[in-house]
Amino acid sequence: MTPPLVDPFARAVSYLRVSVTDRCDFRCTYCMSEHMTFLPKADLLTLEELDRLCSAFVRLGVQKLRITGGEPLVRRGIMTFFRAMSRHLDSGALKELTLTTNGSQLGKFAGELAACGVRRVNVSLDTLDPAKFAEVTRWGRLPQVLDGIAAARAAGLAVKINAVALKGFNEDELFPLVDWCGREGHDLTFIEVMPMGEMGNDYRIDQYWSLKDLRARLADRFALIDLADRTGGPARYVRLAETGQRVGFITPLTHNFCESCNRVRLTCTGELFMCLGQEDRADLRRPLRTSSDDTALESAIRDAIAKKPKGHDFDYSRQTVTGQMSRHMSHTGG
Ligand code: GTP
Ligand code: 5AD
Ligand code: SF4
Repeated sequence: MTPPLVDPFARAVSYLRVSVTDRCDFRCTYCMSEHMTFLPKADLLTLEELDRLCSAFVRLGVQKLRITGGEPLVRRGIMTFFRAMSRHLDSGALKELTLTTNGSQLGKFAGELAACGVRRVNVSLDTLDPAKFAEVTRWGRLPQVLDGIAAARAAGLAVKINAVALKGFNEDELFPLVDWCGREGHDLTFIEVMPMGEMGNDYRIDQYWSLKDLRARLADRFALIDLADRTGGPARYVRLAETGQRVGFITPLTHNFCESCNRVRLTCTGELFMCLGQEDRADLRRPLRTSSDDTALESAIRDAIAKKPKGHDFDYSRQTVTGQMSRHMSHTGG
């Protein structure tokens, strides 16, 4: 058996996030600017190339593939790619094939995703108020996303809602979101906003709502039972004793989780980013395109992982942003 990919800090890399497109049908304010210049389509890896790359990672020990974007479901032909990846589930090499989506296209694709072996989806949803939803996504329509989520559940997929905690935006929706997820049977994860994309320094600090505070507010109303089980990502979960539902916290700012990092990120042009919060990257497109044999590709992957940095430097604690990345979140798919 091939030895697992291990980084310089003895962390095994078993989770690959794959951004299949930089495009999206929304423009969430914390993720993209209003006027984005997207890559020319000719710069994208083909779906066959993405298949070869992902398959190389699976051979090297990756057990979880999360397809992201931009919005992964706007990439033309994306179901062909999911179908192709499902063969790694069938062989047992891959434990999980999943995606993070804005939900807008789930109405169309949920059934096919389930048929490809996808068992759960993470859907970004920061507010249940249609006007605020249109504001944060710049033009998204909430009913379309709610219909998409319903279609996912009807197709048998488990749904986890991702809500970025935004001061002055969704503070008053903490309990409505929790109650709605409880009623609908969705997991819910809150995320601290990360300083990515171009923005003024004050902008993120003004938006930042610490999950320490959010958790304390939640604890005023519910008894929180810490859960040891994880989903393989950075979230730590609690169960609300009164309702039995699961709520997760992703806390890059108040509780850095880099010491247990197990993931790297592949972009739609074949760059491998070793950390969300650092610029370290490797070009995998070149070894992919220069030889049809995968030896060079596999050693490029191993070399890259051997240089994975310790973690991000995001920090707002001195009332100024440090560790900020000008790269948009959509470039690496979060
Ligand atoms: P699960 O498989 O459900 O655990 O999902 P996940 O949390 O791994 O993936 P998802 O795409 O839902 O990501 C949720 C949030 O976690 C996004 O805002 C990501 O940017 C953030 N996130 C995921 N991995 C990392 C990481 O390594 N570092 C940081 N700082 N944030 C991360
Ligand atoms: N900070 C935290 N989370 C973010 N996401 C996008 N941009 C940011 C940011 N600046 C989240 C999205 C999506 C996930 C992939 O990343 O809401 O759920
Ligand atoms: Fe699109 Fe997701 Fe970024 Fe929002 S967070 S603009 S839905 S890629």
